[in-house]
Amino acid sequence: MHSEIAHTRSQAESEVAAVSTEQQLEEFRIKYLARKGAVAELFERLRVVEASMKPALGKLLNELRTHVQSLYDQKQSSLYTTSTKPDELDLTLPGRSKFRGTIHPLTQTINEIKSIFLSMGFGVADGPEIEDDYHNFEALNFPADHPARDMQDTFFVSQRALLRTHTSPVQIRVMEQQAPPVRVIIPGKVYRNEAISARSLFQFHQIEGLYVDKGVTFSELKGTLVSFIKQYYGSSLKYKFRPTFFPFTEPSADIYITCFICGGKGCKMCKQGGWLEILGCGMVDPKVFKFVGYDPEVYSGYAFGMGIERIAALRYGIDDLRLFYENDVRFLSQF
Ligand code: PHE
Repeated sequence: MHSEIAHTRSQAESEVAAVSTEQQLEEFRIKYLARKGAVAELFERLRVVEASMKPALGKLLNELRTHVQSLYDQKQSSLYTTSTKPDELDLTLPGRSKFRGTIHPLTQTINEIKSIFLSMGFGVADGPEIEDDYHNFEALNFPADHPARDMQDTFFVSQRALLRTHTSPVQIRVMEQQAPPVRVIIPGKVYRNEAISARSLFQFHQIEGLYVDKGVTFSELKGTLVSFIKQYYGSSLKYKFRPTFFPFTEPSADIYITCFICGGKGCKMCKQGGWLEILGCGMVDPKVFKFVGYDPEVYSGYAFGMGIERIAALRYGIDDLRLFYENDVRFLSQF
């Protein structure tokens, strides 16, 4: 019986080492420690051995039982505690969900507007945000000391350099670099020295458009921009053109659409007027063509410019432009 005890002992030891699941551990328990298990069976046989052998064998068997029980206990606690040791991977913890970002509403707006104009045959151009006086003003027919310069409060970087106040200087840069025909849109950041409020920012975005070729007419300007408005805002929207002044276009117009928020009845958004200005436009002034070396007798063209923050705000019914720059995820994740 001595050898059987030793055998059971070493067998239990090697089997417990291979246990890695609760199920296997339970099988181990049944095989060795249950009422009809291997250990109990040996105790059973103790009954029939010679009386003189009983004390020594009994002691060995007790030791075996304690040993196997402790193998079981150790395995059990290691199975249950692996997952809670701080430096080990706990596969039972719930997963951490990944935070998914969204495209910023201004970028979405720019992309949508771009794709409408791309489908109408426009290309995309860009230019520097730090400009010189010549491109931002002079070549756009704002003479020095002309009061029209006051329309846009300028941030100066140095005596000669400034932060562009609109995307129109890129019109000049594009025309300086290529001969007509030209058909581009120009999205970009612009800067104006204005107090920040719900309705104005010192940095915002514009999309400029420029089309120059032989025989371009005001009705083409109208057709293109009306088509844009209908594609972007929906075909049932009312709009109107109203004459205005820009030094670099003649004639010039502002386009208004029925106020989104109140449907034209008058509200805070439209300052009770029922109409919202969304875009400035006009026929390129012949003086501008002279600055870039285009012959105004041969070529004509139109240009337009719109503020992206304003357009996005109207589209989504946002009454405070500052929200676009606060980067509050609760705001951004809605788009
Ligand atoms: N640059 C003008 C502005 O910022 C908008 C504009 C662009 C008007 C092109 C006419 C033509 O207000």
